[in-house]
Amino acid sequence: MLGRRTGVSTNRITLVTELRQRLNRQRGPLGLRLTNALTSAIEDDVIAAGEALPPERELAEDLGVSRSTLRQCLEQLAEGGLIETRRGAGHFVARRILKPVTRLTGFTDDMVSRGIQPVSKILEKTIMPVPPDTAFRTALPLGTPVFVLVRLRLAGDEILAYERSIVPVTSVGEDYDGTGSLYGRMDQHGGRPKRILQSMRAVEAGPEIADHLKVKPSTAVLMIRRIGYGSHGIAVEDAISWYRGDRYDYVAEING
Ligand code: GLP
Repeated sequence: MLGRRTGVSTNRITLVTELRQRLNRQRGPLGLRLTNALTSAIEDDVIAAGEALPPERELAEDLGVSRSTLRQCLEQLAEGGLIETRRGAGHFVARRILKPVTRLTGFTDDMVSRGIQPVSKILEKTIMPVPPDTAFRTALPLGTPVFVLVRLRLAGDEILAYERSIVPVTSVGEDYDGTGSLYGRMDQHGGRPKRILQSMRAVEAGPEIADHLKVKPSTAVLMIRRIGYGSHGIAVEDAISWYRGDRYDYVAEING
């Protein structure tokens, strides 16, 4: 980590070189690549906690991106708690980084990063007004059209989870057919969660869940609830999943 090693601010040229390399290693829209490049540079300590980023105008020029693109990325980083923006002083890398939040992943991301083929079986896909209990949990206005997607999630041919996700239609588009990664689709609509609240608890599988997961009724399974919020703090997902307890390890890295 350059900043700490030398005891001075990270050399701007080194930072720009790193960011350019990280940008070029990815595909997709420039804004997304830039956010990923900055996020990974911060997580890898290329820029130390507490250190200032170069002024917006200079960084945008060095990277060959527009100031507005850079500013949008910086806003996202600030919302994710990776940087702090101090009026008149600039952007600083936050002193605490919550890795689980900055690496917010979905089922497909988790499987692909482990080299496993993600498979989904769609059991239900419906567009309807937001169910009252979801409206209550998420503060989505009653009547908001949502997409209800119930899927069996498999790792190859092995059943891993039964999952129900409720997302506003605006986050996925009316023509979404439920296939492929939900978060991938939400990425295309700029609606992927940027922050989640998640709870996990061991429960006994009732007859329906046991049947879906192909386990004996009353087997201990992991129930995960997730509410995802988009970049403007508005809820974009209300999900509940039951994972096979014997097939799924939840690993968290927590910095103190
Ligand atoms: C996990 C989360 C769900 C989320 C899903 C998205 O399973 N618990 O809340 O909907 O990932 O996964 P994918 O992008 O593969 O559809």
